[in-house]
Amino acid sequence: MAYGKPESGSVQATQLEQLLIWLREDLMGELQAINQYQAHIDNIDNAEIKDLLSHIRDDEKEHVAEITHLISRIDAIQRDKFLNDHTAAPEERVGSEGQDDKIPTIGSMFGQK
Ligand SMILES: [Fe+2]
Repeated sequence: MAYGKPESGSVQATQLEQLLIWLREDLMGELQAINQYQAHIDNIDNAEIKDLLSHIRDDEKEHVAEITHLISRIDAIQRDKFLNDHTAAPEERVGSEGQDDKIPTIGSMFGQK
């Protein structure tokens, strides 16, 4: 199973699998965008354009964080990997307590509580 154990039994596994596939594709796109903006920043001499592209690049980094959190809410295995990431201190781990209070739940994404 590609997505791990779903949080809610009321949501069809196929919906979750498709959602995770799309979110992972979205995540790849955000990461590629960061690299592309950085390459352009590194090759442009105009300071004003560099500043603007840097701002956009940083927005893409925010999107990476948001999508990563969203994936961790849906994919139980991924969430477990983030929560037990031995390379980060417990309070720095993705999905650690207090970090994702405003992230939608599986139920809210499908019109449920
Ligand atoms: Fe983005």
